[in-house]
Formats: sequence, C-alpha cells, structure tokens
Amino acid sequence: MKKIICKNYDEMSKAAAKIVEAQVVLKPDCILGLATGSSPVGMYQELIKSGTDFSKVTTFNLDEYYPIAKDNDQSYDYFMRKNLFDHITVKEHNIPNGMAENPEEECARYDAAIEAAGGIDLQVLGIGVNGHIGFNEPAAELPANTNKVTLTESTIEANSRFFESKDQVPTAALTLGIGGIMKAKRIVVLVSGKNKAPIVRELFKGNVTTNIPVSLLQLHPDATIVMDEDAASML
Ligand code: GLP
Repeated sequence: MKKIICKNYDEMSKAAAKIVEAQVVLKPDCILGLATGSSPVGMYQELIKSGTDFSKVTTFNLDEYYPIAKDNDQSYDYFMRKNLFDHITVKEHNIPNGMAENPEEECARYDAAIEAAGGIDLQVLGIGVNGHIGFNEPAAELPANTNKVTLTESTIEANSRFFESKDQVPTAALTLGIGGIMKAKRIVVLVSGKNKAPIVRELFKGNVTTNIPVSLLQLHPDATIVMDEDAASML
C-alpha cells in the first residue's frame, strides 16, 4: 500500500483530486467509485474547481443508510448532490436505493449494475475511526458483495455529528462489500485528523484482519492512502 503524507486537509484534498483528475484524463469514460463523509469533501471542491470534463464518467457510491429517503438531508444521495453532482455534469451517478422494498434485491441489482458498467476503475474511500470502509464494520467475517449491514455503536456515535441527535442516526445501511471494493482497479483512501491516527497506526502494523476492514486493502495491488500529518502522527 502506497502512502502519501500531506501537510494538512487542504493539501490532502488537492493530492487526492489530482489522482482522480489524472484518471479522468486518462480514461474520460471511466467508472469512479465515490465516498461520503467529511474526508472527501475538500477533494470534491477541488474537482469542481478543476474544470475537468466529467461528462462521460459514470459514478457508483459506496453506501447509503437504510432506510432513508433521497430527499432526507442526511441521506448520502443528498450529500452527493450537494457536494458534487449539483456542480459538475457526469454521464450517470448511482447510489444504493435507501428506500428499496427488498434490500437484498437492491444489493444484487447494484453489484450487477457495476459489473455491467465494466467495473470500478478508481475507488475513493474514507475510513471510520474503527477502520471500517464503506459500512463494512469490524467482524470475524465480512461479506464480499453489496449487503445490508447493522451499524456498530461506534459508527452511530461517530456519524451522529451530522444529525440533530444520536437516536436519529439510521441503524442500518447498504454497502459495497469487501469483494466489491477490492475489485476496483485502483483505490485511493483519504484520511485526515488526529482521531484517525490510532487506526492508521494499526493499519501500518502490517497485519491483515477483518477486525480492521481497511487493513484488507494491503492485499490490493494498487491502493494508495493519502493522509494529513495529523492522521500520520502516530506512525
Ligand atoms: C461513514 C461512511 C464511510 C466514511 C466514514 C468516515 O461511516 N460510511 O464511507 O468513510 O464515515 O467518515 P469521515 O470521512 O467523515 O471521517
């Protein structure tokens, strides 16, 4: 796993945006895997500013709360429109349907749509304080395919900062599985802030364990972690 250490959040955002821009220049009709959370917001702003032509790009987001309506301002659908899709034109953007009547069918449909599009060329990821990627929470076993997961207490706690109160955080989500993430041809992980320093230290101990889902990315042939000095401070 390659690592790039940047001075601060802004530099991290710029470095990650350069990687995405290069991907789009290299393959204008590429498939991008996108993430939500505070980590990629600065990168999205850089991409908007860059003037890159995204008109042939198709995107697939990693995850969505379940159940949640698209127009709920806490949905990842809403987040993506506000932070990116209201400002750039892409060919098509996809997010798991947080209101699907049958979540299992929705997960299978989502995997099939990614496959039919030709697979993800570049997957952007953030990580949770517990090392989760997407919503794949630490566990003895992790599903390969897109699946419905129950969120852990630590994720509900961490994500409650975006909600009025903790009890408003949905307790489940639909997320790409580890196999879906690992199938991406390239992966870029954005990590910022002192609260992520302990999990970054765990990651670079070099062990691979489903108890730290992000550690599985060490098995990926082309994964890069772009972090700021705060996130790298315990290395
Ligand atoms: C959420 C999302 C993840 C994201 C993580 C980190 O739980 N499901 O995809 O990577 O939070 O968020 P942040 O970047 O805000 O720290």
